[in-house]
Amino acid sequence: MSYARIIGTGGYLPEHIVTNFDIEQKVDTSAEWIFERTGIEQRHIAAPDETAADLAEHAARRALDAAGIDGDTLDLIVVATTTPDHVFPSVATQIQARLGAYGCPAFDVQAVCTGFVYALGIADKFVRTGSARRALVVGSETFSRILDWTDRTTCILFGDGAGAVVLEASEEPGILSSHLHADGRYKELLWVPAGVSSGYDQTCLNQAYVAMRGSEVFKMAVRTLGRIVDETLSANQMTAEAIDWLVPHQANERILVATARQLNLPMSRVISTVRYHANTSAASVPLALDVGVRDGRIQPGQTVLLEAFGGGFTWGSVLLTY
Ligand code: ACO
Repeated sequence: MSYARIIGTGGYLPEHIVTNFDIEQKVDTSAEWIFERTGIEQRHIAAPDETAADLAEHAARRALDAAGIDGDTLDLIVVATTTPDHVFPSVATQIQARLGAYGCPAFDVQAVCTGFVYALGIADKFVRTGSARRALVVGSETFSRILDWTDRTTCILFGDGAGAVVLEASEEPGILSSHLHADGRYKELLWVPAGVSSGYDQTCLNQAYVAMRGSEVFKMAVRTLGRIVDETLSANQMTAEAIDWLVPHQANERILVATARQLNLPMSRVISTVRYHANTSAASVPLALDVGVRDGRIQPGQTVLLEAFGGGFTWGSVLLTY
């Protein structure tokens, strides 16, 4: 049987850093409150002329470099984003043009913070079924554009960035399984009320920004992430001890700690970037994966569990041999 194996990772964070101290100058909060409740210290924010496609291109080029391949050898591009440059065309087609991979299928996936896990699960199926040999999977977000920077309950949490992986068909184990879920009944706990089709009241601009019932999302995230890990381990007849690295969605350090505790996994086996990146939505998992690979913690042959939870609600996991 053929597997989809990761042969390169890449990440990109915009240059501009906004610290908790910067935010406390603008809204009624304190740097300590943000750090204590979330573990976040800073976030990167895209420049005004920098878009999701720009961030995606940087991360993609770094992943292609790490894989040692050229863009024109790709035969699938999937980009996870909630904050694309345009209503259409997709970010995926734009980076396809920039990378010179003309002709291969290229499309965006929208599953908010679970987007990259969804995109990786989809690309895995293309590769396993022989429909693609080399796939680029990217998570890229400019979440700062859908934040109300006067709302202290949301603006403290998010940042911008992109992460990418290159997959290649291989007889050696790569992605072992992916598990994707959604439950649309929770739409209004975490959403942007405005939309292309539903429109919005121009006098009520905050409809165009993220609205969230934070503590309800928090509880749901912890419960659901515990369940998805159990589902993944039992599908692979494994126990948590077999996991070398947990690479979770980076929403809140307290969610990471709670998930690791449920698994009996020490925090030393969890890749945590939330302190420096904040929540970059679909970019958070591939960015954290790239950090773990580049600093040498994640080694070839190790077992890595990626998992995420986000708006929708959507949630999912990917278990892989790196
Ligand atoms: N500064 C100071 N006080 C604040 C701030 C702030 N930035 N934000 C909220 N507060 C206040 C609230 O108004 C509330 O005051 P009150 O008790 O007088 O009403 C108090 O702090 C406690 O608010 P809670 O919402 O209960 O605080 P909580 O401990 O739950 O922390 C947080 C809030 C950080 C948003 C947390 O709920 C969280 O991280 N939730 C998950 C949200 C998330 O990550 N969403 C992203 C997408 S989904 C995902 O990625 C998992």
